[in-house]
Amino acid sequence: MVKRFMVLSLVLCAAVAAQAAEKPAAPQVDAAKGQQIASQVCVACHNADGNSAVPANPKLAGQHQEYIYKQLKNFKAADGKPAERVNPIMGGMVAALSDADMKNVAAYYASQTLKGETAKNANTVEAGQKLYRAGNASKNLPACAACHGPAGGGIPAQYPRISGQFAEYTEAQLKAFRAGERGNDPNGMMRTVALKMTDAEIKAVADYVAGLR
Ligand code: HEC
Ligand code: HEC
Repeated sequence: MVKRFMVLSLVLCAAVAAQAAEKPAAPQVDAAKGQQIASQVCVACHNADGNSAVPANPKLAGQHQEYIYKQLKNFKAADGKPAERVNPIMGGMVAALSDADMKNVAAYYASQTLKGETAKNANTVEAGQKLYRAGNASKNLPACAACHGPAGGGIPAQYPRISGQFAEYTEAQLKAFRAGERGNDPNGMMRTVALKMTDAEIKAVADYVAGLR
């Protein structure tokens, strides 16, 4: 009796072990599937390679995968809660995307090469650079470089690349953070920064960042 029981449990253990080994791994992120979404849907505004042509549509090429994925999730109203980042256009775009779609398209755009903008206003580049590198101690404004890196490449996963982006888009985001219209930044990090900035400082740093590499 005891012996039969032992044999049975051995068989059971073996069966459980075999099942564990056969269990399919979590689905892999698939940039090729992401490319399909990009070339069918996102292409209209962000281009197939993520180098958008219109300043209102941010460049996505070379942006960190985790950041792109987080933004897509934030644009989506889920579980009866409103979207954390409110934008009517992008809200419509993400409505049809599954979690896997968002991961895949994020991986695809992250793998593309950014074609960066250039600074256009020679009169404010120096002021912009100073703000970027050193902030403004007199009003406790931290250096952008502390979180976005010395060359604006960001620090994955939390801190996005901002170098090479359209100045118009960067300016609009800083103003949206300042007004609290964009509030999806962890711990209010960007709202705290932007609240300390004047319009002139925002313009100067946005133009500088466009040309930063
Ligand atoms: C009709 C135009 C349009 C289409 C199509 C579109 N987008 Fe956007 N996207 C925008 C605009 C405009 C913004 C800027 C929103 C804002 O000002 O906050 C944006 C912002 C984003 C951002 C935030 C970028 C950042 O730096 O924070 C991501 C990520 C993004 N889009 C991904 C996508 C993906 C992926 C698709 C395809 C599934 C897509 N978009 C399709 C217009 C579009
Ligand atoms: C304390 C850290 C910190 C500092 C300092 C900081 N940032 Fe940020 N910034 C963040 C984080 C975190 C995000 C991402 C928010 C999110 O998840 O949506 C961000 C996002 C942004 C974005 C939005 C990017 C996009 O693609 O939409 C811009 C633009 C930006 N920061 C510009 C700046 C500038 C310019 C400065 C300096 C004046 C600065 N930041 C200083 C942490 C910081």
